[in-house]
Amino acid sequence: MKRYNWGIIGTGYIAQKMADALPLVLQSRLYAVASRSMDTANEFAAKHNCKAYGSYEELANDPDIDIVYIATPHNYHCENTLMCISKGKHVLCEKPFAVNGWEVRLMIDAAREKGVFLMEALWTRFNPRVVKAKDIIEWGQLGKIKLFTSNLGDQKPFDPTNRFFNKELIGGSLLDLGIYPLFMALLMLGKPKTINASAGIGSTGIDTNCSFTLGYEDDAMAVMHSSLVAATDGISTIFCEKGKIQFGPYVYAPEQVTIVHLNGEKEDITLPLTGNYYQYEAIEVIQCLEQGKTQSSMWSWDDSLMMIDVLDEIRKQIGLVYKGHDI
Ligand SMILES: NC(=O)c1ccc[n+]([C@@H]2O[C@H](COP(=O)([O-])OP(=O)(O)OC[C@H]3O[C@@H](n4cnc5c(N)ncnc54)[C@H](OP(=O)(O)O)[C@@H]3O)[C@@H](O)[C@H]2O)c1
Repeated sequence: MKRYNWGIIGTGYIAQKMADALPLVLQSRLYAVASRSMDTANEFAAKHNCKAYGSYEELANDPDIDIVYIATPHNYHCENTLMCISKGKHVLCEKPFAVNGWEVRLMIDAAREKGVFLMEALWTRFNPRVVKAKDIIEWGQLGKIKLFTSNLGDQKPFDPTNRFFNKELIGGSLLDLGIYPLFMALLMLGKPKTINASAGIGSTGIDTNCSFTLGYEDDAMAVMHSSLVAATDGISTIFCEKGKIQFGPYVYAPEQVTIVHLNGEKEDITLPLTGNYYQYEAIEVIQCLEQGKTQSSMWSWDDSLMMIDVLDEIRKQIGLVYKGHDI
């Protein structure tokens, strides 16, 4: 049985989460972590019992590493991914896959050329309750989708240096939080016919509030908003002809997924959830590698491209330009 050594680039919030999740993934172990600072890498490595590197490149050069998980701010995703792919590593890269469609295409082309696995770390896609909800929609048990509504907002403490508000680190509610309602709309409804967006731009030049709607065949719509200045209720609902599916408390990690039939009868999707839910995407990586795949059919390169192209269009409409990452 093949065993896979994981490396993690970055040591922040999400890197810790993945390090906690990997022990739940068969055929996997956390082998090394890399930080820009050797001290930080050592601290992380001591906690998670793995090797430490004081630069991202050193980790990418380690021949014993099979898969690299990229856990840096959005603006580094493309550069970090390209470096790892150039060394023949498989890559699981945090969302958003990159800042714009041009960068995502570079990453996909590089993976295709090198024959390595590449996936955007959209953990929500692999949450068993979301997988089940997607099945129910596809089977048509509830009829066609007529409307999807979703929001994701958190009242973040204002700090212009933090990646949420810092424009150089690609701050903004859309790419950090809005991506989840958007993901759910695209997963359930597919590629939209129309896109309309507007935003509130804060003092650091990023979208603190963003609203966007997608239009589909037969007058179906998805209506969404994201915020870094308001803690919204986070409820998402797929309204169908014969009932609705409600996701809560947050669309990115829904624990309560409830089908409500037109007669008011409720049915909870109770598939068991374990761990911190980040293991599900890592399990998908291993399953794909075992099958010799370079992309997942659950969240494919085309799915990531569809999403980044919609994000680019929303940013064009709200006039949000990130220097060095122009659309
Ligand atoms: N899937 C999810 O649920 C989820 C949740 C949160 C975040 N994310 C995504 O994960 C990525 C990282 O988010 P995070 O919340 O983990 O961020 P974070 O806590 O700020 O950590 C980012 C890490 O990136 C490294 N880094 C490299 N260059 C940096 C720079 N110029 N400034 C700051 N950090 C830099 C740092 O590690 P070193 O100093 O050790 O090099 C830092 O610890 C983002 O793209 C975000 O969208 C996903």
